[in-house]
Amino acid sequence: MDLEKLKQEFEKDLSLIKEKKDLENIRIKYLGRKSDLSLFFESLKNLPVEEKKEKAKKAQSLREFIFESIRKKETLFKETHKEEILDISQPGILKETGHFHPLTLVLNEIIEVFQKLGFEVVEGPEIETEYYNFDALRIPKEHPARDMWDTLWLKSKVKSQKSKLLLRTHTSPMQIRYMETHQPPFRIIVPGKTFRHEATDLSHDIQFHQVEGLMVSKDTSFSNFKSIVEDFLKVIFKNEVNIRFRPSYFPFVTPGVEVDIKLKSKENKWLEVMGAGMVHPQLYEIVGYKEKGLQGFAFGLGVERIAMIKYKINDIRLFTSSDIRFLKQF
Ligand code: DAH
Repeated sequence: MDLEKLKQEFEKDLSLIKEKKDLENIRIKYLGRKSDLSLFFESLKNLPVEEKKEKAKKAQSLREFIFESIRKKETLFKETHKEEILDISQPGILKETGHFHPLTLVLNEIIEVFQKLGFEVVEGPEIETEYYNFDALRIPKEHPARDMWDTLWLKSKVKSQKSKLLLRTHTSPMQIRYMETHQPPFRIIVPGKTFRHEATDLSHDIQFHQVEGLMVSKDTSFSNFKSIVEDFLKVIFKNEVNIRFRPSYFPFVTPGVEVDIKLKSKENKWLEVMGAGMVHPQLYEIVGYKEKGLQGFAFGLGVERIAMIKYKINDIRLFTSSDIRFLKQF
C-alpha cells in the first residue's frame, strides 16, 4: 500500500471539510478500525522483523500526522465559530417572566384588606337563574328596576328548568345563595365576573368584575358599614382619598346608598365606586330565616372602577384588550 498516496488523499479530504461535525467522518475513514491504515498495520503481521519495523514506523508517523491534522482543524473551527465557545464574561439572556394582570393585583389587594377585617371569601356561579339574579332580590319581572341591569339571557336545553338562565349581571345573587345555606352572624365577600348586555365605551364593558360584601348579625349597623368601607378605601388609596355617601335606590336594601370617592391629589371629580345599603328585611324572609331582629349591610364594589382610579386608566376596555404595551406597565 502506498502510504504517500493515502496521505495525499487524506489531505485533500480534510481540505474539503466545511463543518466541524464532518470531521468525525474523516476520523473514522482514516483512523477507524476498518480504515486503510488499520488494515495496513494488520497486514504487517507476517512480514520479517526488519521489514515490519520499518513499515510500521512509517505507518505510525502517518497515523500521528492524520491525528494531529484533524485536531488542528478542530481547533480552527472552534476559533472561527465563536458561538461554540462559552464566554463566561458575556451578559446572560434574561428570560421574560410573567406578571399579574392589573385587575388581579387590585382584586388581591381588595381581598387582603377584607380578610384582615374578618371577612370570609366565597364564590358563586357566573351562570345564574332569573330567580337568584332578580326575583329573590326583590326585582320581579315587570319591575322597572330591571332596566338597571341589561341582561344577557341564555337558552337552556333543560326543559324542566323553571327559572330562566342568564349571565349574572351582578354578584348580589350570592347574598341569597349564601343566606340560604348559612346562619348569621357572618361576614363575607364574593369576588367575581359579571356581565351586561351593553354598548361599550370608555367606562362600560360587557364583562367586568364586582366584589359583593355581606355582613349580617343581630346588631350590625350602618355605622359599622361606614367605618369598614372608609377603612377599606383608605388602605387601597393610601389615605389620599375623600369619601362621600349619597342616598340611592336598590330593591334589595333599605336605605340604599352609593359611595363616591375623590382622590385628594388633584382637582378630581367624584366617582362612584359602589352601591350599598342595609339588607332589606324581606330578604331574610325570602331565604327562610326564622330569627327576628336581624340587621346587616351589603355592598357591591366595581373592581375595574377601583383599578382605573388607582392606576389612572381612562378606558375600561384596555383590561381585556390583551395589548402588551398596556399590560407591561404593571
Ligand atoms: N348589585 C348592584 C349593581 O350591580 C350593586 C349593589 C348595590 C350591591 C347595593 C349591593 C347593594 O350589595 O347593597 O348595580
